[in-house]
Amino acid sequence: MSLMKGKNVLIFGVANDKSIAYGIAKQMFDDGANVGFSYANQAFEKQVRPIAERFDSKFCEECDLGDDNAIEELVKKAEKVYGKIDTIIHSVAFAPKAALTGRFLDTKREDFITALNISAYTLVALAQKFEGILAENASFLTLSYYAAIKTVPNYNVMGVAKAALEAVVRFLAVDLGNKGMRINAISAGPVRTLSARGVEGLSRLFEAVAARAPLHRNIDIEDCGHLASFLCSDKAKNITGEVVYLDAGFNGTAL
Ligand SMILES: NC(=O)c1ccc[n+]([C@@H]2O[C@H](COP(=O)([O-])OP(=O)(O)OC[C@H]3O[C@@H](n4cnc5c(N)ncnc54)[C@H](O)[C@@H]3O)[C@@H](O)[C@H]2O)c1
Repeated sequence: MSLMKGKNVLIFGVANDKSIAYGIAKQMFDDGANVGFSYANQAFEKQVRPIAERFDSKFCEECDLGDDNAIEELVKKAEKVYGKIDTIIHSVAFAPKAALTGRFLDTKREDFITALNISAYTLVALAQKFEGILAENASFLTLSYYAAIKTVPNYNVMGVAKAALEAVVRFLAVDLGNKGMRINAISAGPVRTLSARGVEGLSRLFEAVAARAPLHRNIDIEDCGHLASFLCSDKAKNITGEVVYLDAGFNGTAL
């Protein structure tokens, strides 16, 4: 298939080959895209560089998305390598561990700010800083979770951050839409990744999906790749501002 043929795609959020962003990178590469990678800090470089090589990537750069100057530097590098960017994948989230356990009521102000900054504002920052080098019909994609709309034990401040992220998608859709560009979110069911392991009681979420979802199974990063490639391709040209559930139907069930 050549859904993404010749498109320049920058992918934020690969930590290793279990990451949702890895599944997306692989599918986009298979669908003909030029995939570029950015990792949060040096600790991730050892994992991400070989992945970039696996996908013949010309771009593999560090960028802490909490740092506006770092994003501006990255934009300059991306422009040198690609000229224009067609698609940006935001598969990034962070909350301090202490905020992902116990009572939500006890969330500290600094942890709340960190979680919303890294998990939601970074999408605004990417759209803002990359605006000048986006191609016509450019598209953005981010990753959300059901805890944006329903409480899930221990997700706590991350649920609040995902609610903010989904609102960010709708507001950005308006501004980007005026330029013919699009943005969507995939609300993915639970997947065993580095970040997910930071949430206590993860196994129960997998069991709940297998028991209750109409399809009685969990999703994987390949599923994320397939949906991401479609949503970012021109085939989805009239889909924007959406949160698309990828959860074997779990979100539609009450019991
Ligand atoms: N795994 C799940 O069950 C699940 C379900 C739904 C949504 N999601 C979302 O999918 C996205 C990807 O998570 P994942 O599960 O693949 O885990 P992951 O740990 O593989 O990916 C999270 C990424 O965020 C990056 N990151 C954190 N802080 C950053 C910063 N300051 N600058 C740049 N990058 C930073 C990490 O380096 C990592 O690569 C997240 O938004 C997560 O909330 C995950």
